[in-house]
Amino acid sequence: MDILEKCRPWTAEHLRRTGRDCYYRALGDTFDGTEAEFEGRRVIIAASHDYLGLSSDPRVLEAAVTAVRRFGTSLGGSRGVSGSLELHEELESRLAEFMGQEAAAVLPSGYQANLMLAPLMTDGDLVFSDFSNHASLDEAVAHGKAKGRKFLHGDLEHLEELLQAADKHGISGGVDAGKIILTDGVFSVEGDLCDLPGLMKLAGAYGARVVVDSSHDLGVLGPTGAGAGEHFGLRPDVVTSALSKSLASVGGVIAGPAEVIRYLLFHARAMMFTAAASPANVAAALAALKILQTEPQRRVRVLELAERLHNGLRSLGFDTGTSVTPVVPVLVTGRERCVRMWQELCEAGVFAAPMVHPVVRAGREVLRITLTAAHTDTQLERVLAAFEQVGRNAGVIPRHAPTSHTPVRIAHPREAPLSGPYDVRLST
Ligand SMILES: Cc1ncc(COP(=O)(O)O)c(C=O)c1O
Repeated sequence: MDILEKCRPWTAEHLRRTGRDCYYRALGDTFDGTEAEFEGRRVIIAASHDYLGLSSDPRVLEAAVTAVRRFGTSLGGSRGVSGSLELHEELESRLAEFMGQEAAAVLPSGYQANLMLAPLMTDGDLVFSDFSNHASLDEAVAHGKAKGRKFLHGDLEHLEELLQAADKHGISGGVDAGKIILTDGVFSVEGDLCDLPGLMKLAGAYGARVVVDSSHDLGVLGPTGAGAGEHFGLRPDVVTSALSKSLASVGGVIAGPAEVIRYLLFHARAMMFTAAASPANVAAALAALKILQTEPQRRVRVLELAERLHNGLRSLGFDTGTSVTPVVPVLVTGRERCVRMWQELCEAGVFAAPMVHPVVRAGREVLRITLTAAHTDTQLERVLAAFEQVGRNAGVIPRHAPTSHTPVRIAHPREAPLSGPYDVRLST
């Protein structure tokens, strides 16, 4: 049988018929990172994770352009053998310091930053992953040699059962097996926050290490924007993040104890056998990091807008699930309905993110909205008006707004940096 035979039904018509043509769509010109041309009309971009609105900031643009002029568009090879720039090292040391870790390594994508974890998971070890973790964390487990166990989303009782069972029945290496718990800081579809204190307590009790993917909380949560760890006053053993969200670039970072990063540099194929992050992307992330650290009002703004968006949607009768962050999922259920609503929203001038299978499981469809610090109050009102109109047409919300709703209290950063040390238990 021809190995390509399975692809034969995947015609353009098949994509249209099955509602898959809502994916891989191209925008035309963009305006200030908040609006773009799409299918001949101007739409509000409500699907980008550029949380701090820095991807069009003149200072970030200038840094990227200067880097291209100085270093060219590409280093043309892998960092290991072809070398990297001092710019890479500067970003790494600044990110490590910001993330409260000893060392960091920068990669061309957040996906690869998570793949870097694979060599930690050796034969006989056990990995415990939250069911809703990002696909790239799952991929790291698949690339590693350890046995993987998934716990129900955010369910610490289930996690403890799995940890207990592993010790009791000696799955893999038994009590002496190396154990690692993987979690997103903020979950990319649900928009809820992991229970880091609970996870770290269990990790301490069962001798496990904790890795947090902070892609959606770095720059957004914590008194200085350092992410979920700082929000809770805890230091996970290893933290990863995409640079394509608050850091207005494209790339990834993995941060942790210096010897862990060194070990991974020599064991992770995701770093060894890939080209260096481009000079423009490194410079953009560096510029965005500096702005992030000096303009806390951007964090305040994105969280304030998110709270208003959540509560505006809820007052219309929409369900935004368990999210307490700028990742705002509007539950719609049903692939067809989700795709139809997405199309109608585009026609009403809002480009949201349709989350249907294979991005989420069937039955868990949502339209995800993310507004950034650069969006205006007027744009927020327009997004709400479009959702009201489209939600009514689709029968997702009632004709008349409900008389009351349960308000969302967003995960605001604490007023002042937490006193007392981070938990340094595992990194000494
Ligand atoms: C939680 C999380 N981790 C990792 C990634 C991967 O990052 P990147 O897009 O830079 O590969 C993403 C991005 O979609 C994400 O949401």
